[in-house]
Amino acid sequence: MHTFDTTINRNVLNEKIRNVVKDLSNTCLQVGEKGLEIQFLNDKNYNGIDYYVNADKSRVFQVLSNLINNAIKFAGVNGVVTISIKGTESLLSDISDTVEKNGYAFISTKDNGNGIDPEIQSRLFSKFTTKSDIGTGLGLFIAKSIIEIHDGKISPENNKDGGGATITFSLSLD
Ligand SMILES: Nc1ncnc2c1ncn2[C@@H]1O[C@H](COP(=O)(O)OP(=O)(O)OP(=O)(O)O)[C@@H](O)[C@H]1O
Ligand SMILES: [Mg+2]
Repeated sequence: MHTFDTTINRNVLNEKIRNVVKDLSNTCLQVGEKGLEIQFLNDKNYNGIDYYVNADKSRVFQVLSNLINNAIKFAGVNGVVTISIKGTESLLSDISDTVEKNGYAFISTKDNGNGIDPEIQSRLFSKFTTKSDIGTGLGLFIAKSIIEIHDGKISPENNKDGGGATITFSLSLD
């Protein structure tokens, strides 16, 4: 069991993601070199309001940075990296009387590279699993621990429409 020194605060998830996207777009050399486009979609809920989560800001930043950095690293030349948020609140609004929670935000990072190598799929979240020359293979291992201490889930899939991968994690909405 891995423990973290967590400081849980109410955060605007949208703002957090916008900042990470901006930071990485400006600072990551590969974004310019590969001519990548980084997009952030669906940044409001169906009422046009930001998503709020109770989370450790710096840990969520760490998860987002790793997922976006992975997408940048494994995206092809002129690739597109898309980060999106979707909430379950629209699904739950009909049955809100019977639902205690506000639902979840699902945050996805999608790229159009070659996708996750089937050879490592089963140990993707284990320590030191990597297909990168420069990586340590700790990013997804740490991301999973962080998301799980926030009672969320993280799951990978290779895209059905074209190449690339989408990694999605959930956080409980406040
Ligand atoms: N978007 C992606 N497309 C293709 N493969 C991916 C993607 N994201 C992760 N992977 C695969 O999963 C492996 C593990 O990812 P992880 O983030 O844990 O480690 P890393 O990026 O290699 O190193 P680190 O994050 O420690 O710098 C990667 O090396 C890569 O093989
Ligand atoms: Mg990584």
